[in-house]
Amino acid sequence: MQVAHSIAFGADHGGVQLKDALADAARALGHDVHDFGTQGTESVDYPDFAALVCEAVASGRARFGVLVCGTGIGMSMAANRNPAIRCALVHDATGARLTRAHNDANVLALGARMTGLEPALDALRAFLDTPFDGGRHVRRVAKLSAVTEPVR
Ligand code: RB5
Repeated sequence: MQVAHSIAFGADHGGVQLKDALADAARALGHDVHDFGTQGTESVDYPDFAALVCEAVASGRARFGVLVCGTGIGMSMAANRNPAIRCALVHDATGARLTRAHNDANVLALGARMTGLEPALDALRAFLDTPFDGGRHVRRVAKLSAVTEPVR
């Protein structure tokens, strides 16, 4: 590990098992883990957990967020409603690395029904270890933040 990060984790019932495994791995790597739930497999609503994690990231209490649901799609949609969040749904380490390098993503979304444990662990490590490239990507990321009103 290069840098110890503060990381907020969240999942729904479809992602809780993978979330727990990723949080354990992050702890073992020396990161500071904040687990916002869910705990257990009772059916819950993914936007509730995305909101908790994204609020922690947006407020600066966490440097990064990790969200897991069945597909990762609902979590990524919910997370990106927060204007401070750049959430990327990825399926492997390459996507995780490139979204940090190019998009300065601050939240990683994974789908437990889409990505197995080992690729998900690889993706988490790549996400946490990769810095933003800056340069030409700064202008592009700034344009994401410029879109704050609905485009009709
Ligand atoms: C829950 O049934 C499922 O819809 C959720 O985990 C996720 O896949 C939504 O995008």
